[in-house]
Amino acid sequence: MKKELSAIEAKFEAQKIAFGPMYFQAMVAMRDLGVLDFISRNRNGVSLQKIIESLTLSEYAITLMIEAAEVLGVVEIDEDKIRISKTGFFFLKDEMTRVNTNFMNDVCYQGASAMRTSFEQGRPAGLKALGNWPTIYEGLSELPEPAKKSWFEFDHYYSDNAFPEALKIVFKKKHRSLYDIGGNTGKWSFACCNYDPDVSITIHDLPVQIAVARQNAANLNLLDRVSFYEIDLLDSEQKIRSGADAIWMSQFLDCFSKDQILSILLNAYQAASDETTLYILEPFFDNQNFPAAKYSLIATSLYFTIMANGNSKMYRLEDMKALVEKAGFEVIETYPLIGDSYHTILECKKKR
Ligand SMILES: C[S@@+](CC[C@H](N)C(=O)[O-])C[C@H]1O[C@@H](n2cnc3c(N)ncnc32)[C@H](O)[C@@H]1O
Repeated sequence: MKKELSAIEAKFEAQKIAFGPMYFQAMVAMRDLGVLDFISRNRNGVSLQKIIESLTLSEYAITLMIEAAEVLGVVEIDEDKIRISKTGFFFLKDEMTRVNTNFMNDVCYQGASAMRTSFEQGRPAGLKALGNWPTIYEGLSELPEPAKKSWFEFDHYYSDNAFPEALKIVFKKKHRSLYDIGGNTGKWSFACCNYDPDVSITIHDLPVQIAVARQNAANLNLLDRVSFYEIDLLDSEQKIRSGADAIWMSQFLDCFSKDQILSILLNAYQAASDETTLYILEPFFDNQNFPAAKYSLIATSLYFTIMANGNSKMYRLEDMKALVEKAGFEVIETYPLIGDSYHTILECKKKR
């Protein structure tokens, strides 16, 4: 049973919420100004005086960062020696943490104050901090830096880790034609071409992303294997064409509300034959091994609220399965937590 907090402990937890943004920014600054790295390189600990002498920052700035870091457990101070803690080490060195932090800071932070408006109005009211698009997807390829770099690093970090195992699963069957729905820059499509010399891919995405994917395919000499289909899947008049052995949706359906997901799956259904396999790769927040994964996925849902489109989120596994069934497919296999990733693959066929 969960231990009940005392009132004093609970009040402290509440202050963590109240002051969270300040501590976040202080740690980003401490990382980006090299203070944390300097402390980390002094493994046996380093005095405040030595840090001040070694870096070109004021005593005031360094003192404040260290005080905040000690409160968060990012550094430990013992007999005037400052050392990086295990938490600090991960904050500084862990690739996933770096990618998540940059995504929060560069893509989400400025827009986050529009959270309440976004909830009230069902639109990404924070997106105006980055540009004037109705949703982030129209602007992805044109985002200002560093938001663009951080958005793509975040997206690719998670899908890249899932792809090696996903390729093995998808190509257990011989597919001659695969549609990559929401194929983005083409990473999955190009990996498929590399994995199976016979497969042809059609990337489906919004025009701005298709332009980038086409250029990437040209750079890789893959234009004979990869074709492109500009489509807005929020417009149910625009149909996915028939002819696919496999339809692949990776980190795609979480970009939509439940109603929109159903409409997209119905679109896939009208394009599918009895032989077509639909694969859905998603990180489901209730199907994770680590509490940190659920914590991160729920925060990612809030990114969808303020920056992406104001109505999408990360889902529970059973919610997605229900939508798949409602659209006329059946889930014939669930591959939970594939490889070194947080993703599940649902392999689906039309119901017989
Ligand atoms: C989160 S990214 C996923 C990219 C890639 N599949 C992956 O796994 O890394 C979502 C993709 O869906 C595309 N997308 C979003 N809304 C769309 C729409 N209405 N019609 C077609 N594609 C859309 C975006 O442009 C983007 O490329």
